[in-house]
Amino acid sequence: MARSMDMVPLLLLCMAAAMEGAAALHLCVDRLYDSTQGKHDDGLPHLNPTEEATWMALLPRKLGAKAEFDWLALYRSLTRGAGGAPAEFLSQASLHDVRLAPGSMYWQGQQTNLEYLLYLDPDRLTWSFRQQAGLPTVGEPYGGWEAPDGHLRGHFVGHYLSASAHMWASTHNDTLREKMARVVDILDDCQRKMGTGYLSAYPDEVFDMYEELSEAWSPYYTIHKIMQGLLDQYTLASNRKGLDMVVWMTDYFSERVKNLIQTHSIQRHWEAMNEETGGLNDVMYQLYTLTKEQKHLTMAHLFDKPCFLGPLSLHDDDIAGLHVNTHIPVLVGAQKRYEVVGDHLYKVT
Ligand SMILES: *[C@@H]1O[C@H](CO)[C@@H](O)[C@H](O)[C@H]1NC(C)=O
Repeated sequence: MARSMDMVPLLLLCMAAAMEGAAALHLCVDRLYDSTQGKHDDGLPHLNPTEEATWMALLPRKLGAKAEFDWLALYRSLTRGAGGAPAEFLSQASLHDVRLAPGSMYWQGQQTNLEYLLYLDPDRLTWSFRQQAGLPTVGEPYGGWEAPDGHLRGHFVGHYLSASAHMWASTHNDTLREKMARVVDILDDCQRKMGTGYLSAYPDEVFDMYEELSEAWSPYYTIHKIMQGLLDQYTLASNRKGLDMVVWMTDYFSERVKNLIQTHSIQRHWEAMNEETGGLNDVMYQLYTLTKEQKHLTMAHLFDKPCFLGPLSLHDDDIAGLHVNTHIPVLVGAQKRYEVVGDHLYKVT
């Protein structure tokens, strides 16, 4: 446990404030967003409520054994309330079984979306990935978010893979299937060429900067989109490569996070996460349901952002001032956590 003792009083204060429903005392800071907004740069610590030891450290020692027992029981009721798997959920209708009535307004909208996805060119979409992997580029790169000097380049490609997988499941348009499979094949070539599991349209030095807490624009945000896109290609279009690529990417990134924690501390990992990391927890919970590998579950937990979810689970739900794009994906991931592992930690009733 890397947490220093001087943080305990602050955490206690936060917990007390939260439990009494006092005004929100946000533990999260957002390095990039807040520095541009001129808000908090106080580096407040994070609470990782998934660990009993952390929880127990919050109890004032003088209260005695009985209080200690109750405190532990409270933690266990929060985290294990479900007593195992969640009760039955509504099951989603498969997109493969739903078709819109031709000529309807919704069908028209779907056609417009389909035509846009068909218009996107696999070589142009993957231009920066090939360049990054040291493979010959083909055609011209796109501009906008995908411009070769854009700091978030690659994330739109992740969105493309998700959108086209959903569109293919909803239409079975095989022209689209060929195109999206082509994008996956090119990305697969790039990942193999680099040979470490890393897959991105920018160099991995960006993650070094992220870990050093210096300016790096949300690299895990982009990785989340790419992983989700590849996973959607597997789950909705049965492209096995998509799953294998995400597993290999996760090997690479778990190793990175592990090294960061070993070299510095878990605290450094939480501090680094004080910017936009997308729904990495969400995609890792999905991966875990497919692989049942403990490593994938651990990775999911590590991206749960406890400084945000912890207070929310204690009804401290004033989220004013928090960047929406940063926090909503984490919440979606928290719901996924509940669906996948059935623990009640973040399920406020
Ligand atoms: C896919 O959709 C486009 C646009 O509607 C259409 O022109 C094309 O024929 C479709 N391809 C297949 C194989 O269904």
